Amino acid sequence: MSQLQRVKISALGTYVPPRLLTNADLEKMVDTTNDWIMSRVGIKERHLVDKGVATSDLAAEAAKVALARRGIVADELDAIIVATVTPDMMFPATACLVQDKIGAKHCWGFDLQAGCSQFVYALQVGAQFVRTGAHKKVMVIGADVMSSIIDYTDRATCVLFGDGAGAVILEPATEADGDNGLIDFMHEVDGSGGVSLYMPGGGSLNPSSHETVDKKMHYVHQDGTAVFKFAVRKMSESCVNILERNKLTGGDIDLMIPHQANLRIISATADRLKLAPEKVVVNIERFGNTTGATIPLAMQTAIEDGRLKKGNLVLLAAVGAGFTIGSTLLRWAY
Ligand SMILES: CC(C)(COP(=O)(O)OP(=O)(O)OC[C@H]1O[C@@H](n2cnc3c(N)ncnc32)[C@H](O)[C@@H]1OP(=O)(O)O)[C@@H](O)C(=O)NCCC(=O)NCCS
Repeated sequence: MSQLQRVKISALGTYVPPRLLTNADLEKMVDTTNDWIMSRVGIKERHLVDKGVATSDLAAEAAKVALARRGIVADELDAIIVATVTPDMMFPATACLVQDKIGAKHCWGFDLQAGCSQFVYALQVGAQFVRTGAHKKVMVIGADVMSSIIDYTDRATCVLFGDGAGAVILEPATEADGDNGLIDFMHEVDGSGGVSLYMPGGGSLNPSSHETVDKKMHYVHQDGTAVFKFAVRKMSESCVNILERNKLTGGDIDLMIPHQANLRIISATADRLKLAPEKVVVNIERFGNTTGATIPLAMQTAIEDGRLKKGNLVLLAAVGAGFTIGSTLLRWAY
């Protein structure tokens, strides 16, 4: 095999549906308060789709923005990977639906599901095709319509999630990119945590039936405290380990872009790494937890804030259902 190729993110596109669900709206729907949500989680509002809008619609919008920013047409893509826990349907894969919607005529694709770590997992899967020289342009999309699997009478989960999508294009780095591009990743799963965060209905174990619907098995079920404790411990552990492996400390990082599940999880990780608040991207207050889309949405926020610049050393980190854990180290390339 020829020499492995350095890989860079060459473009980013994001999309959230326009409709807002605010804490004031939720106060009218369930027994909760703005104060509780802000102090325990840090969310003010989330964007939700209207009926009939699916994950592939959000993903296609984000994909079009990324293509336009990169100045290429969809035909130039070699592959599309969609990271989602809320595919439009069991099959066909949402990646196929996105391929058709954006008119990418010369590519293949597939879905990847890894809970809230799925964007960083898909990023690395996509990167391998570029790294080996098999492909020149791979699109990785994190997209979820979480509102399709949330019980809006359950105050413990309905305040947490939102809908959204983010797409990046992966390409070979050139000599002009210097050290910029993906540097390292560290992934881990712990399937014993599956009992703490899951959607039991609609799969091969509990095929959809009147009974599964009556028992609300088509919704997210969560032991919030167990997920919280695991996420606080493993997110910081994963970040410390990837930094140590690269002979770096928190002080070397220009920006941490974490999965946005709970402001307290992000703050605990930042404290452990001794990162100043301005080095940690937080936008959970505007979007809630959009699962596959949180990290690209946070990248977009950092670009808009002027905090994500070419050459920046960036740490991505996520923990999610599975349990899944993933961190990525990269130098932003544009
Ligand atoms: C869900 C989460 C915010 C709950 O916060 P918490 O501090 O652990 O709160 P608890 O679950 O201990 O609940 C404390 C109380 O608040 C109540 N409560 C739960 N949701 C509430 C809401 N929306 N409004 C008001 N009270 C609420 C609980 O019923 C409980 O009441 P009780 O003491 O009378 O039983 C927190 O556990 C969390 O963020 N977990 C991780 C979730 C996550 O990240 N999931 C996605 C995977 S990446």
